[in-house]
Formats: sequence, C-alpha cells, structure tokens
Amino acid sequence: MFADRLKQTSAVARACLVEALPGAGPMAEPMGYAVAGGKGLRGFLVLEGAAMLGVPESAARFPAAAVEAIHAYSLVHDDMPAMDDDDMRRGQPTVHRKWDEATAILVGDALQSVAFELVTDPETGPAEVRVALARSLAEAAGARGMVLGQALDIAAESASEPLTLDEIIALQAGKTGALIRWSAAAGAVLAGEDPGPLTRYGAALGLAFQIADDVLDVEGDAGTLGKAVGKDAEAGKATFVSLLGLGPAKSRARDLVEEAQDALTSYGKRADILRAAARFVIAREA
Ligand code: IPE
Ligand code: IPE
Ligand code: MG
Ligand code: MG
Ligand code: MG
Repeated sequence: MFADRLKQTSAVARACLVEALPGAGPMAEPMGYAVAGGKGLRGFLVLEGAAMLGVPESAARFPAAAVEAIHAYSLVHDDMPAMDDDDMRRGQPTVHRKWDEATAILVGDALQSVAFELVTDPETGPAEVRVALARSLAEAAGARGMVLGQALDIAAESASEPLTLDEIIALQAGKTGALIRWSAAAGAVLAGEDPGPLTRYGAALGLAFQIADDVLDVEGDAGTLGKAVGKDAEAGKATFVSLLGLGPAKSRARDLVEEAQDALTSYGKRADILRAAARFVIAREA
C-alpha cells in the first residue's frame, strides 16, 4: 500500500534529520518537537526519485532530511500569530503555543541552518552535486520561492481586489510548489541526469497538493488533519477554492495529477511509486 511505503521511506529522512539536531541545550527539545509528525512527503520524493535513478539511499537521505527541515521551519513560522495564527499543528500545540514566540522564531532559524549542513554533508556526493543542491535549495526556500509565496499569501489577505487565477497559481507555485519541485528534481541532480521530467512532475504535483490542502481546509476533519479547519475563508486567503469553488478546484487538481503522471512517461514502470504519490496527494485525508 502507498501509505506504508510513504511511512517507511519518510522515516529514513526523519532519522537522518533527527541525528543532525542538537542532543542537548535549549534548542534540542523544541527542534525535535517541530520535526516530529507530518507525512514526510518531500523527503519521500527525494528518496524515491533518487532510488528510481539508482542513487543510493546513503546519499539521498541527506537532501531528503534537508528539505524536511526547511519544510518544518516554514510550518513553525507559518503558524505564528503574525502569520496564520494557528494553535495546532500535526496534532499537537504549535511551537509558539507550547513554548513561546522567541522559541518558535529560533527553531525556524535553526532548522533552516541545519538544512544546509545536511544537504552539504560529504555523504551527499561530490562537491559539484552538493553545491548545485545547496544553491537550488536556497533559491527554492527563499524570496524567489517559498518565502515569496508566503509573502504573496499574507498580502492577499488585505488586497482590495481578489487575486486572479494566474496570481493564485504564482502564489502557490512559491509557497508550496518551490520545495516540492526541488524535492522531486533532487534525485536527478544526485544522479547527474536531466532534471526536466521530474521538475515538470513536481510542478504539477505541488499545485495539486496545495489545492488539496485548500479543499481540506473546507471539507477536512481537524482531528484527522491535526490542524484547524475553516481558517482560509476566515482569514480571506486567496486559494483555488475561494476563487473557483470546491467542484472546479477539485477538478483542476485531478487534471494536475494526470499531468504529473504524464510527465513521468520516459521512466516507464520505474516511476510507478511516484505516480502513486501523485494520486495520493488529492486522495489524502490529512
Ligand atoms: C502543509 O504541508 C503545508 C503546506 C505546504 C500545504 P504538509 O501537508 O506536507 O504537512 P505535514 O508535513 O504532512 O505536516
Ligand atoms: C503553508 O500553507 C505553506 C508553508 C508553510 C510554506 P498553509 O498556511 O496553507 O498551510 P497550513 O494549512 O497552515 O498547513
Ligand atoms: Mg499560510
Ligand atoms: Mg497556515
Ligand atoms: Mg492550508
């Protein structure tokens, strides 16, 4: 079953990330807390893309852990009062609720740094590969990628006019898409192969993933999701659902899942697990 494979593979990335965290001191417990739980989809994409192209897990587990560290940092900050102001994440109180805002800021900062320690670990591969991965991860995480998307997301809450579809696509390509694209393509970079097909897969998958997140904010169950629902409409977020409504948003997500699967044609059956991941992102309940 796909869910079992996701659990097993993502545990590899999680273990690598946990090994890199401080074992003692004031940051140890809150950092460990922030990386616990979650589906681990981004690390899974790195590891499965790499495995498909013959890259050993001993190398791929470092970039897989790195992207999970950036993702966890983004969630800790996303939940803070100045951003989405959420109390629950992955079924537990958010870091700023469990500790305080200073701790949440510092956990995010430190997880971002640890990501670059991980991705440049000598086990990841030759220096050129490590530099390529570190540079592209910095771009994906920063002000042309995830941070840009988050800034557009926050700005949209107080915009006088609703965003257009193209503007929502650009917002989501940043906030969620950039890290998912990077994760999908990382295996090809590790293998020294053309990252084109996996990048196209990741782009379609990332957008489908965020549409599903927006649908779950309306239709999902807070207990199953481990986070509050109904927050997007309340905050005036610009989403596919706010612009198009639930039915058309779901239909768009289904088309994107087809597009993601089609992008894998050149890999044949080797890519079946990545095809299953594409179907999973819109079928999931959490
Ligand atoms: C939630 O991401 C935030 C978005 C980018 C939509 P995930 O749904 O992957 O969160 P976890 O890691 O499984 O908790
Ligand atoms: C979060 O998007 C994206 C990032 C953290 C980069 P959302 O704000 O929609 O995620 P949830 O719904 O809080 O998980
Ligand atoms: Mg947000
Ligand atoms: Mg949020
Ligand atoms: Mg959301």
